[in-house]
Amino acid sequence: MADQGVNSGRRRFLTATTVVVGGAGAAVAAVPFLKTLKPSARAEVAGAPVTEDISKLGVGQRLVVQWRGQPIWIIRRTPEMLASLPTVDGRLRDPKSDNVDQQPEYARNEYRSIKPELLVLVGICTHLGCSPTFRPEMMPEPFDADWKGGFYCPCHNSRFDLAGRVFEGVPAPSNLAVPPYHFIDDNHIQIGVDPEGAA
Ligand code: FES
Repeated sequence: MADQGVNSGRRRFLTATTVVVGGAGAAVAAVPFLKTLKPSARAEVAGAPVTEDISKLGVGQRLVVQWRGQPIWIIRRTPEMLASLPTVDGRLRDPKSDNVDQQPEYARNEYRSIKPELLVLVGICTHLGCSPTFRPEMMPEPFDADWKGGFYCPCHNSRFDLAGRVFEGVPAPSNLAVPPYHFIDDNHIQIGVDPEGAA
């Protein structure tokens, strides 16, 4: 019985060794690939939070960062952009962000953001996954004569306002998603982590 215990223990050891060696081989194979990536890219591969300096993001401009393989848009909205939001409420499918899957609770407000001026969105159309274009100017557009600025998806003509809220009568079923994020300080934002204490 004791021998059997030794043998089965040895089998277990061999099995464990094989698994570990296999794992080590995979790890060795991955190292050259990871070594070629910058630190921020390595973090992205791992799905880790991404920290971004937004000090140079001008008013009215958009910054695009990558998080978990997705484009994340950070936009510093102008006072005029913020003032335009309520004017399109009546043309939207979900103006009050009632679909709770599309944003964290702390972004479920009229601006869909923590700070009114700073909008953070996943830049992927909720129809079939194209990346909409940024059309911030308030001017008549071929796709909307009363355009107040927002995002236009050229794949199948979906439109979103400057809070990522979807218009009625387009194929996209829901508002653009807001990822988890928080501010480390006035100049740094971290994507992928909720604010401390957020529900
Ligand atoms: S993927 Fe954007 S409208 Fe179809």
